[in-house]
Amino acid sequence: MDQHKTTVKRLSVKHLLGIKDLTKEDIEQIFATADEFKSILNRQVRKVPTLRDMTIANLFFENSTRTKLSFELAEKRLSADVVNFASSSSSVSKGETLIDTVNNILSMKVDMVVMRHPAPGACAFLSKHVDACIVNAGDGTHEHPTQALLDAFSIREKLGDIQGKKVVIVGDILHSRVALSNIYCLQKLGAEVMVCGIPTLIPRHIESLGVKVSYNLKEALQWCDVANMLRIQLERQDTKYFPSLREYTMQFGLTKDLLNSIGKEIVVMHPGPINRGVEISSDVADSDQSIILQQVENGVAIRMAVLYLLAERKD
Ligand code: CP
Repeated sequence: MDQHKTTVKRLSVKHLLGIKDLTKEDIEQIFATADEFKSILNRQVRKVPTLRDMTIANLFFENSTRTKLSFELAEKRLSADVVNFASSSSSVSKGETLIDTVNNILSMKVDMVVMRHPAPGACAFLSKHVDACIVNAGDGTHEHPTQALLDAFSIREKLGDIQGKKVVIVGDILHSRVALSNIYCLQKLGAEVMVCGIPTLIPRHIESLGVKVSYNLKEALQWCDVANMLRIQLERQDTKYFPSLREYTMQFGLTKDLLNSIGKEIVVMHPGPINRGVEISSDVADSDQSIILQQVENGVAIRMAVLYLLAERKD
């Protein structure tokens, strides 16, 4: 990456708290950097010494498979020292506050914190109270910026450009940080965005974000170039939003028959974890139209790019 260093444009932000804070130029710089890291990841020697003087702490106060492993791999591919923290096995259970927990970790000479937390705004709060670069790995129902970046990067890789593309996000929009970050990211890159789902799971006034709304999956699929299928987040639902999962699947589950009936080929995405047979059938998830595993692969390059560019930004 030494050659890249001479051409790199600084990000406009010191932390990655949400896509809302990024400019279009920031996103394009992240993609250009991820392109370079992706080609390095496809080499026989996948590791670069770029962040060998940095120590990064991954703080996960909520479960994760993809994001946690992807950040850890990205950090290790950049030769950073990595420490991992899971709230279930920590002193948080003894009543320690978030700021005290993080300041104790930082006193061990940690440079950057990657955090997932169930509270919306937790990363922004932390960034105002501790002296370290904060990367949001998902804060409650608010934002999941690196997921949106890897999603948009995967669409760009598959379709060549985001500008003018039509993307529908289907499912539990109300509880989804992936949906909000995707809306911001895709719109900044010039895509048209629609949300589709059961009315009780579409936030009121979401049109004010400039998105279209559909309550009919077949119509939404006929409109779009890309369908991003989201799971129903039962763990965040404090009330019943629909009669049963079976009825939800009948109305909003993506099946091969439905996909074949729209008369054109679209790209199918899913951020994971998938609930096979609920929001997406197995034959669609595993089909040639699905780029679900490419999304996961691209996550490592995107997270390497984010960490590298934020480390460059560090004063
Ligand atoms: N897409 C995503 O955030 O997955 P995990 O919850 O497994 O990290």
